[in-house]
Amino acid sequence: MVACAGAACNFARDYEIAQEPLMREIERCVRGSDYGATSWTTREQAEQAAARLGLVRGLRLLELGAGLRIARERAARDGLDSRCSVLAADGATLPFADHSFDCIHHADVLCCMDRKREMLRECWRVARAAARMEFSVISLAREPDGDGERRLLQRSGPPYPDAGADYTILLEETHWTMHERIDVTAEFVRCMEVLLEESHARRSMLVELLGEEDYAERLERRSSTHAAAACGLLRREIFFAYPIQPIERGPS
Ligand SMILES: C[S@@+](CC[C@H](N)C(=O)[O-])C[C@H]1O[C@@H](n2cnc3c(N)ncnc32)[C@H](O)[C@@H]1O
Repeated sequence: MVACAGAACNFARDYEIAQEPLMREIERCVRGSDYGATSWTTREQAEQAAARLGLVRGLRLLELGAGLRIARERAARDGLDSRCSVLAADGATLPFADHSFDCIHHADVLCCMDRKREMLRECWRVARAAARMEFSVISLAREPDGDGERRLLQRSGPPYPDAGADYTILLEETHWTMHERIDVTAEFVRCMEVLLEESHARRSMLVELLGEEDYAERLERRSSTHAAAACGLLRREIFFAYPIQPIERGPS
């Protein structure tokens, strides 16, 4: 079966634009935060993730797909640069030793890459025995019904929503026990509605910042993503999981 693809992304450009004061003003309306996100994580969801992961001083956290320059600048601004390393790597081949981290988090990263199992397996490899992992992901909720829905998906984000199987299966196959699964599609749809409203309200300033063509493309992509989520083609979920220890897995 052919995987259903979404629209391609230019993350370098997205991150650059997300830092502009106008975009951060919009981000505050949409997500309640203004760090220059390119995921759909709301401030409330980020705070809940920190609580579920039990983040306290002294634990080693691996945040994947945070945006290299943004993460480095933010760590420096928050005075965390002596405790925080930022490096470029492929999530599917992590440059860390086995059992290196207590907590792992990634927001809307798996839906932006095709090697999802490889990344989840790498997360398991670098996780310590008592580690916890939380991630959000946008996925295909059902097969598209005909060419119209297939085209809608192609105009929508993210680029790789099709995991080929349910994430419970992917987690199981990569040695994770799923502890919690939270459907946040309603919040995702609401965020896009606010984004569309706020973008229309600031149209002239956005056109000045982005140019007419980029503005129109972004709006088209958001409207398509909104339509795809609203009609049940795309969903956004949060997964919370623990690594399965080799002894529980039995002989391989
Ligand atoms: C939708 S953005 C999410 C950004 C960020 N997590 C946030 O909350 O704003 C997806 C991120 O996944 C990263 N990404 C895509 N493919 C990747 C891969 N193979 N390995 C690691 N990161 C990847 C992109 O560079 C981008 O930073």
